[in-house]
Amino acid sequence: MLVAIRNVVELATHLTMTQFDLIIRQAYLGEHPQYAHQAVDLGITNGKFSAIAPCLTADAQAELNATDCFISPPFVESHIHLDSALTIGQPRWNESGTLFEGIEIWRDRKQNLSFEDVQARAIATLKCQAEQGVLFVRTHADVSEASLIALKALLAVREQVKDWLTLQVVAFPQDGLWRRLENLDLMQEAIQLGADAIGGIPHYELTREDGVASVEKIFELAQKHERLIDIHCDEIDDEQSRFLEVMAAQTIRTGLGSRVTASHTTAFGSYNNAYAQKLLGFLQNAQLNIIANPLINITLQGRGDSYPKRRGLTRVKELWQHGINVSFGHDCIQDPWYSLGTGNMLDVAMMAIHACQMTGRSEMTACYEMITTQGAQTLHVCDRYGLEIDKPASFLLFAVPNAYEVLRQRLLPQWVYHNGQCLVETPPTLSHWHYSPSP
Ligand code: FE2
Repeated sequence: MLVAIRNVVELATHLTMTQFDLIIRQAYLGEHPQYAHQAVDLGITNGKFSAIAPCLTADAQAELNATDCFISPPFVESHIHLDSALTIGQPRWNESGTLFEGIEIWRDRKQNLSFEDVQARAIATLKCQAEQGVLFVRTHADVSEASLIALKALLAVREQVKDWLTLQVVAFPQDGLWRRLENLDLMQEAIQLGADAIGGIPHYELTREDGVASVEKIFELAQKHERLIDIHCDEIDDEQSRFLEVMAAQTIRTGLGSRVTASHTTAFGSYNNAYAQKLLGFLQNAQLNIIANPLINITLQGRGDSYPKRRGLTRVKELWQHGINVSFGHDCIQDPWYSLGTGNMLDVAMMAIHACQMTGRSEMTACYEMITTQGAQTLHVCDRYGLEIDKPASFLLFAVPNAYEVLRQRLLPQWVYHNGQCLVETPPTLSHWHYSPSP
């Protein structure tokens, strides 16, 4: 008891005497272990959160009045292709809207890639995302062409933006790992150059056996070189595409757990329920991450259907209900696979809420977490993410009191902070009515 009282006194003294660089006053937290949905003060020192309490009485060099504002950890973009972003119409539009016409168009466009071309489009996209609150991004880089231009440019971008955004680069063999003998050499070179994660596309390999072999090789490489894994898996409507079970088996055998991510898994939406139920159990054992890309999945998949037409998404709700970590990605912005997009993660969550029928209050909260905290789990960055003492003070402030209103209104953050510094400020927009009733 004495110890507890002394701790309280020490804490009170600390809160009274400490001088902070900045205090954010009376911001509403969302889900939080201690102050869920309460208004609190957050003290920041040397770029990190140093105190969170209902009222901090210490001095601060600066204060920000956040009354009635919601404070959120930054958005996490779990899955994007920055190398193809902003290439819409080059050299032609995807008129069929299919994944495979997109791959054909990209095969033509990437003949003209240059380092500067990829770099400029990637930086422009990341700036656009940061303005909308995204400070953690995992991009795939196509490593199917001999010069590895896309990968080299995105690794340079990773360095260029590191003072304001965390970028991870996945070495992604868009044309398949086993389709040509040299593809494996290119993957090995990409790892040596510094790719953060190893990717794959087993459902696009020439045979089922090649697909299984590609998954096995990716796990072998990831273990050998201590890299994360993020595989484009079963991105197809074919209910016989079953590489997710291969990934689950490899994850269980290797014990790599949350270092492994399966992206898309859209075929999961077409499996029969008996098989899907069995697979959910395997995934619980494996503890790997699943990424859904709702904007792209609902537009690319189901193209071969008449009616009823499938939604083409993985079973987001059921995965979440089974405690499996799910996060969301934008996947594409104005490229051969998706002609729209601004990089706003709220658009992604909004599509998931509709297409996955996650309209319950707790389900909408879960969708918000899939673009924030659960994305951080997928990227394996939880040690430097979140509104907690000693974590970097990177956060968003919205002029509404909770995540539900942020989602409903698809608001831009009024302030984006990175490591205790204001990175972007966006004043709220106001509408002016010029209508006056006639006498
Ligand atoms: Fe993708």
